Amino acid sequence: MSEKLATLSFSDGKPSVDFPVLGGSVGPEVIDVRALYAKTGMFTYDPGFMSTASCRSNITYIDGDEGILQYRGYPIEQLAEHCSFLEVAYLILNGELPNQRQLEVFVDIITHHTMVHEQLVRFYSGFRRDAHPMAVLCGVVGALSAFYHDSIDINDPPSREISAFRLIAKLPTITAMSYKYNTGQPFMYPRNSLSYVENFLYMMFGTPCEERKPNPVLTRAMERILILHADHEQNASTSTVRLAGSTGANPFACIAAGIASLWGPAHGGANEAVLKMLGEIGDAKNIPSFIKRVKDKEGHAMLMGFGHRVYKNYDPRAKIIQKTCHEVLEELDLKDDKLFKLALALEKVALEDDYFIKRKLYPNVDFYSGIVYKALGIPVSMFTAIFALARTVGWIAQWTELIGDPDQKIGRPRQLFTGAAGRDFVPMEKRK
Ligand code: CMC
Repeated sequence: MSEKLATLSFSDGKPSVDFPVLGGSVGPEVIDVRALYAKTGMFTYDPGFMSTASCRSNITYIDGDEGILQYRGYPIEQLAEHCSFLEVAYLILNGELPNQRQLEVFVDIITHHTMVHEQLVRFYSGFRRDAHPMAVLCGVVGALSAFYHDSIDINDPPSREISAFRLIAKLPTITAMSYKYNTGQPFMYPRNSLSYVENFLYMMFGTPCEERKPNPVLTRAMERILILHADHEQNASTSTVRLAGSTGANPFACIAAGIASLWGPAHGGANEAVLKMLGEIGDAKNIPSFIKRVKDKEGHAMLMGFGHRVYKNYDPRAKIIQKTCHEVLEELDLKDDKLFKLALALEKVALEDDYFIKRKLYPNVDFYSGIVYKALGIPVSMFTAIFALARTVGWIAQWTELIGDPDQKIGRPRQLFTGAAGRDFVPMEKRK
């Protein structure tokens, strides 16, 4: 079959130019414009990458119109129902679900990398006690490259693998330590007898003073939340990791860059912003006035936890998390939780409002995750840090894919320049 082409023509009589059209396994085809500048002397203009595929990837697929999310081809609903977080991590990293033996080996490796270098512990005392956990994560994860020199050769596959293991294993420890530091409680060393998620909750909430028994419903809820956040295609933080990775930076530095990018309220910081917003609304009777402020764009007011660049029908993760939210509140006897009721009422009003319908704005993963976290006793400032913990799996898989991609080049966008054209220097005495 002959190659499919897209023809670009110009209204000013310039000759038209052909570009190859590339197809993936599913999803929209792409026009390969790599030769555009060489052929026409022009760039494409696409702020926010609304129409740009920045790479080839075979990890995560999203169909935003149909509300589909798949990791390595498997629907998120099935993975969230049947898998452990580390099983999903193995899938994302390796492309296939592990068999029993492979899973055991993987879990064993991760479990035996959960401790951090004892000197890294001292980093924490350099932070203020009230340091935001995301600030601590940016610093401490970046600092890992100063501790694990033996695994930062990005051209060596075993080094890449050990860095991936270290990051996935240590993020729960580092994250829990940022919480312990805030509260002034002693850091808890990881316990190898616990599962990945049990261990994280133990390091968060355990103390040396008493035994802590994991609650299976709450552990499962956290497991599910981590699965839902594990990867999400070429979002802002993943693209940040890839851009940093394209320069040859080491994986610890790249993941630290991803953490910084995740922090913003339009991205991973939204879960924290949702709870702040619900707190500000306070009561269902204030919903109409809040919605009016959003619609009038008063003071940049937004309905946090709503809207998504890709999902224009519904976010499949939001459906699963809403169900998890019910289960957790039931288990904790919080069925009448005021915030959850307020969130449900707010969602109902928004989904029936023309403003949100016309703009295809639906609840996203962050709308309900904060309510689950809060019910689990996790403070608001930790929400985005837990997102980062889960997303580390996706980031490191995407970074590994990038390093092995023969098309990979240093990321270097161009611009439409609108500044002063060349002009001569003006001596001080002649300036107005
Ligand atoms: N509340 C009110 N209006 C909104 C919202 C919202 N949450 N989201 C988008 N809009 C409006 C926006 O003002 C614009 O209206 P108009 O056409 O009148 O100018 C229209 O909808 C289209 O918005 P956009 O900014 O072009 O959409 P985008 O695809 O660039 O932005 C988004 C997507 C997620 C950044 C945005 O919807 C948003 O900021 N939502 C709130 C923050 C949030 O919940 N983020 C978490 C996303 S999911 C988890 C993750 O990715 O980390």
